[in-house]
Formats: sequence, structure tokens, C-alpha cells
Amino acid sequence: MTVIKHDVLVIGAGLAGMRAAIEAARNGADVAMVTKLHPMRSHSGAAQGGINAALDEEDSWEAHAFDTVKGSDYLADQDAAEILAREAADNIIELERMGTAFSRQENGRIQQRPFGGAGFARTCFIGDITGQAILHVIYEQILKLGVTVYEEYYCTSLIVEDGVARGVVALPMMTGNLTPVQGSAIVMATGGLGRVYSPTSNALACTGDGMAIAYRAGAPLQDMEFMQFHPTTLKDSGVLMTEGARGEGGYLLNKDGERFMEKYAPNKIELASRDVVSRAEQTEIDEGRGVDGCVLLDVRHLGEEKINERLGQIRDLAKDLANTDIVYEPVKVRPGAHYAMGGIKTDVHGASPVPGLFAAGECANVSVHGANRLGGNSLLETIVFGRRAGEAAARYAKEHASPQPLSESVLQRDQALMSSLMERSHRGDGGDRPAVIRGELGEMMHHQVGIFRSREGLASALEKVRELEKRYQSVRLEDTGKVFNMDLITVHELGFMLDIAHTMISGALAREESRGAHTRRDFPERDDEHWLKHTLAYDTPEGPRLEYGPVTITNWQPEVRTY
Ligand code: FUM
Repeated sequence: MTVIKHDVLVIGAGLAGMRAAIEAARNGADVAMVTKLHPMRSHSGAAQGGINAALDEEDSWEAHAFDTVKGSDYLADQDAAEILAREAADNIIELERMGTAFSRQENGRIQQRPFGGAGFARTCFIGDITGQAILHVIYEQILKLGVTVYEEYYCTSLIVEDGVARGVVALPMMTGNLTPVQGSAIVMATGGLGRVYSPTSNALACTGDGMAIAYRAGAPLQDMEFMQFHPTTLKDSGVLMTEGARGEGGYLLNKDGERFMEKYAPNKIELASRDVVSRAEQTEIDEGRGVDGCVLLDVRHLGEEKINERLGQIRDLAKDLANTDIVYEPVKVRPGAHYAMGGIKTDVHGASPVPGLFAAGECANVSVHGANRLGGNSLLETIVFGRRAGEAAARYAKEHASPQPLSESVLQRDQALMSSLMERSHRGDGGDRPAVIRGELGEMMHHQVGIFRSREGLASALEKVRELEKRYQSVRLEDTGKVFNMDLITVHELGFMLDIAHTMISGALAREESRGAHTRRDFPERDDEHWLKHTLAYDTPEGPRLEYGPVTITNWQPEVRTY
């Protein structure tokens, strides 16, 4: 059997993965990326509004770190939040030197806009296509450094031997033949899990693969109960209307034309943190002051020129997907599942508790976002902690290179599972098609594990996910061919999504308090005495086993959080 072998394997090729690969290559490692999508199609390209850094003399990294900790409802590890904020400016300057065409002020300095929960206008941007613009520049560096990219290789499992991560099993979509890929260090950078919900702002590819793969291999998932609902997503499609629209001065209105955020967040109004704005919108909608199940985002007063310059992409998206030209009319928006605060537990170098396994970006939990992420901090996290993980992985690979060949047991297990799926599908005696289970999962998560939660709803979600897991055991394919069998990929993704959803529900049911994006109607207050702690979910045959770990506090004791 031919085994592909590299020093460092990066799984996923969005911004965190590519930034990790760049740094590992710069540190002398032979690096390869294993990715189900072409790097330029990764979901980082959908990030619109910006990336945070304290660049202005009147701002400071300490203020940025504090805003991040406060935004997290004090669940972030403060040492990690300090690193994020302290290293932000140098990373932005590096991106600029690589060629990122940041929007500029008249004096040539990088332009910055206010974002939610921030005490200063510190979000750097490129109009409203920030992620896409950075993705191009970072990909150029991948090409320049000659990093190997295994494109359209779907990763099915992590290979762990004697407790150490040593490689992955990948499914090249072109051949359909499972292939072992060996690495002395593995960096998981597969992005988010938004597709567990329906609707969501996330791309079809965001199915939590890396989180589930690491979880099944023994790594704990941390704080999975915290899911961010972005306040401004389009009604039917769930597509994002950037927070930059409010950063530039846009209003949120209810059916009476009232700027309702004045009631909920008198100081920051539309620029309170996302958990606060989304809860307020949902309350307006639930209490009958919404419009067609939505509220209105109004930017008309900004004028066409500014809208075209700063918000051109969302003007196009609203026209195409909601038949609304935001220059002339407000657009209907509602809170939508957007970002997973939880993920694979790592230290500040991206190392997970499984030796040899690192993680960065949305699939990781370092933890800088705690219970609620600030807008503009996710792109920053990909760059700061992608770089750190790449550097640490290269170092680890150098120190732990092993000539020992990979054992074939994980490969054989994956092959056996795939064969039995193919055989029952051939015989036509399977159960549901994957889309049916996926649809029921998304709907259940939306209704029971959404902005407002309760014991009753979460208990019924738990029952439902167990039922779906059972039905998944006999899921069947329509396509039993080998070449580009997307049906097969969908089945793998669904298995991962069910595992992930189970951890989210279990964590949410156990956490009897309201903190950040986790709002329990039956426990409406934050409870620092009992719940100022991280949730750790471990995989067991019976479902997730929960443990708890301490939160690192450096400078900021938890306070009442108002905006
Ligand atoms: O609203 C936005 O542009 C999204 C930014 C983010 O999620 O950080």
C-alpha cells in the first residue's frame, strides 16, 4: 500500500489552515493540506465585515482584549484573549505587506469601522469582501511556498496510535479509494458546523467534520453549547448581511419604525454584542413587533455612494436573494445560526490534549470567544492562532518524526463501514436518504437549540438526536459509484453532524444558567458561582460524557455586562 507522508498535515484549507501551512513551511517542514474543497472555495471567503486590531494611537490591545473578554461573557480564557489582541496589529501589517488591499483613510492609513461590542472603531476591512480578499492573498503565499494541496480529498478519520496522532484516512473524491496519509503533526482547520442548523449563514461545507473526527479520536470538544446567532441574515436563504452595515451607521427597526435596540442597549444601540442584538430581535418578533418573522435593516440614510463603496456585496445579495435594493428600502433580516464558539480544546499554541494533534480557527477552542464572539475576531483568530499552530506543529514534527509505518486498522474499519453502506444501498434495503435526516436535524436544532432554550426543549432535542442517530445506522445511498460520489460524502458529513449536535445539546441541557449566546428561559441569570467553567465533551459509545475545566482569569474579574 502506498502511503502519502509529510511532516505536517493540515486538514482544511480556509484561512486558519492556510495560515498554519504557511508558518509550518516557513519553519522548514514539508507541509501538505488535505481539503475537501479548493482553498479558494472555503467558507472564510464568506466573511464580510472585517478583522479587528487596535491600530490607532488612542486605542490599545488591552482595550481590545477587555472588549473580547466582556463580549465572551467572561468565559474566554483571558491569557488567550490577550494574545489575540496583542498580536493583532503585527498580523494585520503582515497581511497588508502580503498584498491585502485594505480600505484606506484619506491619509493613507488603514480605515477602521466600529463593530458590535467594541469600545473603539477597530475593525479593518476591504469593503464588505474582507474574507475573500484575504483568502486570495494567503493562497498566493501557499503557491509561492509550494505547499502540497490534496484537493477534493475528504478526511474520514484521524489515525491515533498509542495515544498519538499519526495521520488521517482520506477519501480522494476522484477515485473513491480510501487512502492513508501520514503526518508527524496534524493541524485540524476544517472550520465551522453551521449546517447542523437550518437555516444558517454557513456554506454547505460547514458540517463540523474536523471537530467530529478529533472527538471520535479522543480529543475533548470544549463549550459546544455556545452557538452564535448573527443578528442580520436574510429571511429565507440565511445569507449574511454584514455587521458592517450597522458599523457604518445602519439602523434596526421594528414594524412601528422604532429603533428598538435603544430599549435593550441604550449605550451601544445597534452595536451591542451579537448575543444581545439577536435576543432583542427575537423578542421583538416573538412579541408581535416584527415584520414577516423579521426585523428591518435600514441603511438608506447612508446614501448610494457609501453603500456602493462599503457595502456593495450585500447590496447585490439583497437584490438577488431578497428582491430588495437597500439603497431605496430596508431589508428584512433575522437572527441566523452563524458561528460555533465551541470546538477542539487547544492551548495557545494550538495543541490539543492528543499529542500530535493541533487545531486552529473555528473548529478549535483556544478559548478566545467564550460564550459569545465579537464580530471581526474570527478572521483575526484564524490568522493569529493559525500562525501559532503552524509554528508549533512544525516544531513538534521535527522532534517527533517516526519511521514507523502506519497501522492499517483505522483504514480497514473505514473501508468495512463504507462497504456495508454500499452493499445495503445496492440491495435497496436501507432506510432514510441522508437529506431526510439532515433536514430533520436542522429543523430540530433551529427550534430547540436556538436563541432561547429550555430544559423541556433541550430534552426533546436529545431524544430526537438519539432517534436520528439510530436511523443513521441504516441510511442508504442513491449513488453507489466510486467517482465523485457526493452522496457518500453527504453520508459522512451527516454522521459528523449528528455527533456534533449531540455534544451541543448535552452541553446546553447541563448548563443551567444564561451566559452569552446560551439563554435558558428557565435559568435566565448568569451564575458565576456554579458555571464559570468550560464544558468538555468526550466521546463514549453512550454519547458525550461531560467534564468541566477552569477558566483562566488574568486581569478582569467577571462583572455585570451591559451595553
Ligand atoms: O457581519 C459580518 O461581517 C461577520 C463578521 C464576523 O462574523 O466576524
